[in-house]
Amino acid sequence: MATCTAPGKIYLFGEHAVVYGKRAIASAINLRTTATVAESAQTTITSSLGTTGIDYTVHPYISRCIESLGVPAVSVRIDSEILVGSGLGSSAAAVIATLGALNAEFDLGMTRTAIAATGHQIERDVQGAASPTDTLVSTMGGTVMITPWVSSSRLRLIECGIVIGDTEEFSSTKELVGNVRILHESYPVAMDSIFDTIDNLSELGVPLIENGDYRSVGELMNIDHGLLDAIGVGSAKLSAMVYAARDAGAYGAKITGAGGGGCIVALADDAGAVASAIDDTGGRAIITEASEPGVHVRK
Ligand code: MEV
Repeated sequence: MATCTAPGKIYLFGEHAVVYGKRAIASAINLRTTATVAESAQTTITSSLGTTGIDYTVHPYISRCIESLGVPAVSVRIDSEILVGSGLGSSAAAVIATLGALNAEFDLGMTRTAIAATGHQIERDVQGAASPTDTLVSTMGGTVMITPWVSSSRLRLIECGIVIGDTEEFSSTKELVGNVRILHESYPVAMDSIFDTIDNLSELGVPLIENGDYRSVGELMNIDHGLLDAIGVGSAKLSAMVYAARDAGAYGAKITGAGGGGCIVALADDAGAVASAIDDTGGRAIITEASEPGVHVRK
């Protein structure tokens, strides 16, 4: 039997633009998914993800993990602290934890790079379009700058408080990426210039993160939120939480992930004050922090 745990993630900059090859900065967070696998007479998958009446199941992702590694029948159990369909990378964390556990159980000798690449392919197979961000960050951990399909580099770990505000509304990444694609097809020049600006925010963010200048990082996050609103992935609930977080002293606040429903993320020193302002809007606040470790075996 082998157990592996992998983190979820937040985007500081770059969701949606990253699907168009633009740079993004994301960070692993201390909300984790655990996969336990054991050789078994037949393959079974049990999961705490997607069992709350939401039309979502992690099973196709886990089945693809087993198929793509070509391992014998196994039982897989998934336990997760990451909310489903929230933009926090729940499916990527489940895939990466499962690949890590299968790697350990069957002594496959996969490197982290191979786990991240296999995980990305599985997300693309099941979900359609998917950037490498979620699977890469869940595998490697830390705060990471991603140039899709080219490179990634580790940045200084975010050291201030991270507050997530959850609308508790399921959001389909596939559907939102599809909506943005339709807008891009209708207005390619306008949309490309928004994606270029988001790319520039990621570039500007690197030295600010390295210097721990969270006030300036927050200002750029606020700009990114406006641009995400402009490409149609915002909502009144998301913006209410964003403005409440800023009013309560957050350095910055924005949608994280696909948008639509899902979550916002705020950086703050006084995480408690920001969390209670988010709660007051009717959202659900979670205080967390960046996670240096990515996927690892749990003894
Ligand atoms: C979803 O967490 C982030 C998107 O950029 C999609 C992706 O990167 O695959 C919207």
